[in-house]
Amino acid sequence: MKKYTTLTTAFVATCAIMLTGCGGGNNNNNSATNTTPTTARDNTSNNTSNGIPLGIAFAQTSNVALLGQEGIAGVKIAEKYFNDQGGINGTPVKLVVQDTGGDEAGAINAFQTLINKDKVVGIVGPTLSQQAFSADPVADRAKVPVVGGSNTAVGIPEIGDYIARVSSPISVVAPNAVKAAMKQNPNIKKVAVFYAQNDAFNKSETEIFQNAVKSLGLEIVTVQKFQTTDTDFQSQVTNAINLKPDLMIVSGLTADGGNLVRQLRELGYKGLIIGGNGLNTSNVLPICKAFCDGLIIAQAYSPEHTNDINKMFRKTYVELYKKEPPQLSAQAFTAVQVFVEALKALDNKSKLNKLPLPELRTQLNKQLLSGKYDTPLGEISFTPAGEVVQKDFYVAQIKMDKDGNNGKFVFIK
Ligand code: ALA
Repeated sequence: MKKYTTLTTAFVATCAIMLTGCGGGNNNNNSATNTTPTTARDNTSNNTSNGIPLGIAFAQTSNVALLGQEGIAGVKIAEKYFNDQGGINGTPVKLVVQDTGGDEAGAINAFQTLINKDKVVGIVGPTLSQQAFSADPVADRAKVPVVGGSNTAVGIPEIGDYIARVSSPISVVAPNAVKAAMKQNPNIKKVAVFYAQNDAFNKSETEIFQNAVKSLGLEIVTVQKFQTTDTDFQSQVTNAINLKPDLMIVSGLTADGGNLVRQLRELGYKGLIIGGNGLNTSNVLPICKAFCDGLIIAQAYSPEHTNDINKMFRKTYVELYKKEPPQLSAQAFTAVQVFVEALKALDNKSKLNKLPLPELRTQLNKQLLSGKYDTPLGEISFTPAGEVVQKDFYVAQIKMDKDGNNGKFVFIK
């Protein structure tokens, strides 16, 4: 036993120094850092003295990784930044990353591993609302706080007391895109709407878009449905173009949404197109290439936000990736920030390493919901239900180079 303890200590120390690659024997686990082997611990102890394990559940495989990768970029910047600042009152935060893949089963599996094996204090994720509606109840039942970093469907915080998010719901973000389109073309009257009917967030988003269109006095001439796995949209596109709309609105994920935009242009549509939050990534650019040009997408983040933490975040992101940070990375950074600052505040009240894990998770949930945070998204707080309260929203339009190989999001509001 003594020998085991010594080896464990050595392993922990090595992990803490290396900050990478201590996978804990889990194939799925590519944590930036990892927790100690869990065999030596029971279900109630907490193991925070060598680092506080925070779970990250994002898609790193499947088409959903086009969104999940941006989340990973954000949390890695946060981990380094906050640990360089002294972590949680001197103890580092250790991100434990589990790949959710693109479906519900993968998200549930990642959550269960983080909760039961990695014994995290809380979870950031999952990538899709579709996954959140299945995986978040698992965390809620286990009383593990979850902060969504990209879930924008209506109804996410209402999943349970332990579920919050920093990703503003499309109900407050999406209508801005319709207003921006009308500003560019005041003659818009007829609107065609497309949405992925097999995805919870897109079903929620299209409702918001359709209500916004109607409340602005525009006419919806058709609603066309597709699947997030589709690659050919010819019949939906032809149906819509025949009705001569002045605006098309696409609610899909990145690969399907990007292909749909491309096919709208290939089949001759010349008017404005709005893309929803699933297209809000520069990973859409290689899919629709030159045809992405002009695509309007509402934003809950601007790289131009002038507070110090965003200046740091933007500078770090640009140095690493040679482009402006996207919304999903900023939101993922923010989700980690919320946990770090709440953990610090909690530690100031009652030392974290003295709290049994269930108690720590419950108190952390209360603490994080009551805080105010100055983040790259601006100042945020939460409603008692866990919905983010955020002030500033924006709209961007994609500008592509002529050859279609490079493009950027230009902020127009
Ligand atoms: N915003 C997308 C969702 O909620 C990624 O599923």
